[in-house]
Amino acid sequence: MRKTEKEVLEYSQHAIDIIAKKEMTKEEIEAFTAEVVDNFNNFVNPGTLEYRKSAADDYTSIEWIDEKDGFYDLKGRKYIDWLGGFGVFSHGHRHPKVVETVKNQLSKQALGSAELLDGNRSMLAKILADVTPGDLKYTFFTSSGTEAVECALKMAMMATGRHYFITGTQDFHGKSLGALSLTGKGVYREPFLPMLQGVRHVPFGDFDYLKKTVESMAYIGELPAAMIFEPIEGEIGVIIPPDDYFPKVRELCDEYDILLIADEVQTGLGRTGKLFAVDHWDVKPDILTLAKAMGGGVMPLSACVCTERCYEKFMYDNPWMHSTTTGGNPLACAAGIAGMNVMLEEDLSGQAAEKGAYLMEKLAVLQEKYKDIMVEIRGKGLLIVMVFCDDEKGYQVVTEMFGRGVLLSGTETNARCIRIEPPLTITYEHIDAGLAALEESLAAVAAKA
Ligand SMILES: Cc1ncc(COP(=O)(O)O)c(C=O)c1O
Repeated sequence: MRKTEKEVLEYSQHAIDIIAKKEMTKEEIEAFTAEVVDNFNNFVNPGTLEYRKSAADDYTSIEWIDEKDGFYDLKGRKYIDWLGGFGVFSHGHRHPKVVETVKNQLSKQALGSAELLDGNRSMLAKILADVTPGDLKYTFFTSSGTEAVECALKMAMMATGRHYFITGTQDFHGKSLGALSLTGKGVYREPFLPMLQGVRHVPFGDFDYLKKTVESMAYIGELPAAMIFEPIEGEIGVIIPPDDYFPKVRELCDEYDILLIADEVQTGLGRTGKLFAVDHWDVKPDILTLAKAMGGGVMPLSACVCTERCYEKFMYDNPWMHSTTTGGNPLACAAGIAGMNVMLEEDLSGQAAEKGAYLMEKLAVLQEKYKDIMVEIRGKGLLIVMVFCDDEKGYQVVTEMFGRGVLLSGTETNARCIRIEPPLTITYEHIDAGLAALEESLAAVAAKA
């Protein structure tokens, strides 16, 4: 219900004062916790509380301060971060170089005029052209992964004059209406059907099926503008395709003049042990989408990077064919520039490869010991999944881990697959501490069975 301006002023000042606080007394913590839970219940999403409750023993924990190697909640409890904000914190939490660069930018200008030229955006676009595979050259900046995917779809349509797409049955590309047309999960799609027409979902990694789909689309005169794939399906539980899949996909695309979009929102920027996951197979996409870690763990930033051919029709004739007021703003691009610098300077991809191999080896031993509960582990770099025998066991393990100060989560509504996606900067100490907690958690869950 609408309040008076005076009341809103008072409440917003209270919020500003809380943001300014570095510490709180015990009473203040209790009062603020009750206030936040109440706000979630009334104004954000009560379902979120219920869902978190089932995944954690204390759903009232409030995030408060991030450190480079983990973070503290308001009650001063430290967490080992095995979740990494679902891939946002690849650089660790508040990396000093990223924070300093953003502060330097903030001391001059926050958002841009959207009329004069924007230096940061230009420099980051050049950096992306310099690090991405093949002939990727131009970048359109946005703020979320979903927006980057939307941009990629429109670009592909304009570049080819075609309107259809092929994607993986279990791919995840976001939840706006365009991106959702590609995202496979029926539960998120059904209420919004029909969406983009002519999207074919094919089993991921099955090249023969894909080839037959393209052949039949060609036969009936409905060739797609593009194929869009996550190089490794992350959201559904880290599905890694056969090594020859993407090289063959590239050839097939070339044969039929279909564009290849690599959605690297999750797999990109070092996560899988290479700068981009397509680098594992030396495949060069026509369009590459990036987000999550793109803002260095400090700002929201996403990018749709493409070849000259893809940009030509999309932007040359009318540079406003696609636009966003705040996407690629100076603060976000400052974070992105520093993030790329740190990524290369600290060899975060190499760190992901080494630490991922270490973690997988140790996890394999635990999986063998508790194979009735943890039925499989899969992973590449630091994108790893533990597959449990059912949802319930997955939740129990996450709850046990939370009780031991290690943060993990299921995938949206499913706890059978629990991803391990820590900052790429995670220390071996935190890996080992997490493994020790996991062993105890598995033993506790096994004892309940
Ligand atoms: C591969 C992929 N694409 C797109 C998205 C959507 O990104 P966002 O949640 O930033 O909109 C995600 C999010 O998890 C993703 O993993």
